[in-house]
Amino acid sequence: MKVISIFNQKGGVGKSTTAGNLMAEFSRRGKAILGVDIDPQAHLTKFLLKNDAPVSICELLSGEEKFIDVAQGTLYGDLVPSDRSLATRLNGIANSPSFIFRLRQILGDECDTYDYVIIDCPPAVNQLTVAALVASDYILIPTEAEYFSMDGVCEISRTIAQVRESKYLNPTLQVLGIFFTRYRSNLTITRDMGDVMEKAADELFNSRVLKSRIPNTCDVPESQAARKAVADYKASSKAAIAYRALADEVLEAIA
Ligand SMILES: Nc1ncnc2c1ncn2[C@@H]1O[C@H](COP(=O)(O)OP(=O)(O)OP(=O)(O)O)[C@@H](O)[C@H]1O
Ligand SMILES: [Mg+2]
Repeated sequence: MKVISIFNQKGGVGKSTTAGNLMAEFSRRGKAILGVDIDPQAHLTKFLLKNDAPVSICELLSGEEKFIDVAQGTLYGDLVPSDRSLATRLNGIANSPSFIFRLRQILGDECDTYDYVIIDCPPAVNQLTVAALVASDYILIPTEAEYFSMDGVCEISRTIAQVRESKYLNPTLQVLGIFFTRYRSNLTITRDMGDVMEKAADELFNSRVLKSRIPNTCDVPESQAARKAVADYKASSKAAIAYRALADEVLEAIA
């Protein structure tokens, strides 16, 4: 079992879109997949499940429910769903110092049958993100190729450093790579960002910018409205091809 967090504390950069499409791509390759939605916005959950889940990651992390009773089957693997209660109850359930280790413990105890666990992180740095990073082997960082994107990437490096630098948290956490989402190759700024990001990936994370770039296309929001991976919505879409390539690149990097 390998655990991959999709993380960027900047909002709206394609984390949930990537989590859903990678789950689909990995499942298509015959891998046993678990998605973990640890974002109270529950976008991955709304994408994968038609109806609200009766119990969610909130009850799992609080210890009220067991993994087997919370995980749900979906088209693209199993899912630990989320909902708003994760935000409203967070102070209550996260008040013990052991909270940030709970997800790691649950995955270690109950989820060995999965090949890959994909965690969709919220756009924040709080106990939920730390719990996700503590439970992860790898981080994938989606980013837009825009002027302010570097701010987000610098902030992430500080968060990751805090988790890595404590031997009690996760010193072996590895950044698989940064990759561009909503990519518009016709913009000059976008092209220049490639070099800037490559330098940042190397210096901040000892990592790299992945080759796969997910283009900005209306196929993506349309596929989400249809509650399908973009490859199942429109196989010829450039975003479908790019997500396929990203899945290959990720699997190659961690095999
Ligand atoms: N490649 C793309 N082309 C066009 N639109 C996209 C693409 N990727 C994502 N989007 C759209 O951008 C919006 C944000 O995407 P998404 O929800 O995946 O980001 P996020 O990082 O998970 O956001 P949050 O930080 O709020 O959790 C969504 O409306 C989604 O449909
Ligand atoms: Mg999201």
